[in-house]
Amino acid sequence: MLKSERLILRAVRRDDLPRLCEFNNDLEVELAGAGDPPTPQSLERLQADFDQRVSKGGRDGTWFAIETGGKLIGQCGLFNFDEFKGVAHVCELGISIGDKSYWGRGYGREAIRLLLDYAFRYWNIHRVWLRTNSENERALRCYRACGFVEEGRLRQHEWQNGRYFDTVCMGVLRSEWESGRAAGKT
Ligand SMILES: CC(C)(COP(=O)(O)OP(=O)(O)OC[C@H]1O[C@@H](n2cnc3c(N)ncnc32)[C@H](O)[C@@H]1OP(=O)(O)O)[C@@H](O)C(=O)NCCC(=O)NCCS
Repeated sequence: MLKSERLILRAVRRDDLPRLCEFNNDLEVELAGAGDPPTPQSLERLQADFDQRVSKGGRDGTWFAIETGGKLIGQCGLFNFDEFKGVAHVCELGISIGDKSYWGRGYGREAIRLLLDYAFRYWNIHRVWLRTNSENERALRCYRACGFVEEGRLRQHEWQNGRYFDTVCMGVLRSEWESGRAAGKT
């Protein structure tokens, strides 16, 4: 549905689930991406959740599979739209490239730029924000390259792998995104 030079962002399909399940059970991916302790996930549970959502009908929302060259490499999307839509116009962004062979090759920023354009252009969003772990340097650099700035820290908010980490909150305003684009920076 959304396309860039190398990527397609499209709805998640049932035949994606085995690969997504592999990503969800990869400890390195889980630890990089989440503040919660890692837990195993069965394919059956993932399929049951998927089927339940599909049975409700309607559209697929704002969560996308990330595909390149016909291969599924991760997921990303917008969520937590402000409750009073039409007032603040704020939402949160999340991304996980589960195929580690695609880390650090610019795919993350390409997907995020597509998502930001989608948020600002089609959803009339005013501010997009996200949170990440203070030790996730790859993510921090990727987000900065897309125009996100650090807005605050929840100190020692996450426990991972035997240590506390800060949660870093970052955001980008529509005006910053537009001026960054005009200057060719984002
Ligand atoms: C975080 C993530 C989306 C970033 O996407 P990506 O495609 O890997 O990132 P990019 O290639 O666009 O940018 C990576 C940046 O980190 C740098 N980098 C690459 N490997 C690194 C490493 N091991 N340590 C530190 N920095 C690293 C790159 O040089 C680049 O920075 P630069 O442009 O300033 O040189 C992706 O790696 C991912 O999904 N990781 C697993 C889950 C996760 O961390 N999710 C985010 C949760 S908030």
